[in-house]
Amino acid sequence: MTIILGLESSCDETAAALVTADGRILAHRLATQEEAHRPYGGVVPEIAARAHVEALAPLIEAALNDADMTLADVDVIAATAGPGLIGGVMVGLVTGKALAHAAGKPLVAVNHLEGHALSPRLADRDLQFPYMLLLVSGGHCQILHVKGPGDYARLATTIDDAAGEAFDKTAKLLGLGYPGGPAVEKAAALGNPKAVPLPRPLVGTAEPHFSFAGLKSAVMRAVQSGQYSMEDIAASFQQAVIDCLIDRTRRALEQGSGMSALVVAGGVAANKAIRGALEALAADHGLPFVAPPLWLCTDNAAMIAWAGAERYAAGLVHDLSFPARPRWPLDPDAEKARGAGVKA
Ligand code: KG4
Ligand code: ZN
Repeated sequence: MTIILGLESSCDETAAALVTADGRILAHRLATQEEAHRPYGGVVPEIAARAHVEALAPLIEAALNDADMTLADVDVIAATAGPGLIGGVMVGLVTGKALAHAAGKPLVAVNHLEGHALSPRLADRDLQFPYMLLLVSGGHCQILHVKGPGDYARLATTIDDAAGEAFDKTAKLLGLGYPGGPAVEKAAALGNPKAVPLPRPLVGTAEPHFSFAGLKSAVMRAVQSGQYSMEDIAASFQQAVIDCLIDRTRRALEQGSGMSALVVAGGVAANKAIRGALEALAADHGLPFVAPPLWLCTDNAAMIAWAGAERYAAGLVHDLSFPARPRWPLDPDAEKARGAGVKA
């Protein structure tokens, strides 16, 4: 059985995992840098890159130990090559190249977004291509038609902030600190989602794109007004995000046909209220709903190893000159969304 070693270092988690080609997770190790970045209220790229240098090699050793293996037992090395914070990406990719070279194994340079996009197939081995994917993370908010490894059509993207970014900025405004998503979700559970009138940007428009910048500004005004409790603002904000995600995803489902399932992935998919709303939307359309377990939604190396497994099986390997890419769209042919800023 082919065994894939996956490495992840594109943001603020350092991770190593061993996965088999039939989707068994033999080991997965992760070190979060939350404490190092907390004083700054967000990820500091230089601190992240240095922390990856310290953490990655010991995590690889620990994962191999957990699986009772050595590098000689590994068949394929898969490392995130982008998109992400370039210093961190370089640490993981160069480590992957060095291991591939030293052990004489093939290298798969993995797009981090493809790691998220294919992770539901690691969680549910019955999930078939093509599926409709809502990919919601700290850096991205996209709806993708997933046709196979390396084969994506992007139906929608955000014209400004990503959904996770909106959660993180709202958390900062509410004094909830970093990382913001889980803290906002916790506060939202104690508040009234109807208390604060907030906008639903782009809801009802023909193309299923997203926008969250106006929502963040409205949250700022609500905080400054002094009229509302922190919990009510958190709950109203989360409800506004849910309404946007559901309206936009419904729009995409109306446009695409022949999908096997509605699937959600990325860090924001860890939010239980968002998962619940998407599950109901899938049921409305007579589609199965697939969401990976929470630990597989946020950044990890098992999803990178798995994307490596899928690409390796499809013959999509790379040579040792593959570049580290700060930007790397899954669908290079996608048209720019109208009104989009530099992030599209
Ligand atoms: O996928 P991920 O771990 O890293 C990126 O590739 O961006 O996603 C991290 C994002 C952060 O913005 C974080 O606030 C958000 O996912 N997040 C959540 C929750 N857990 C993580 N957002 C809302 N609710 C959550 N429970
Ligand atoms: Zn991610």
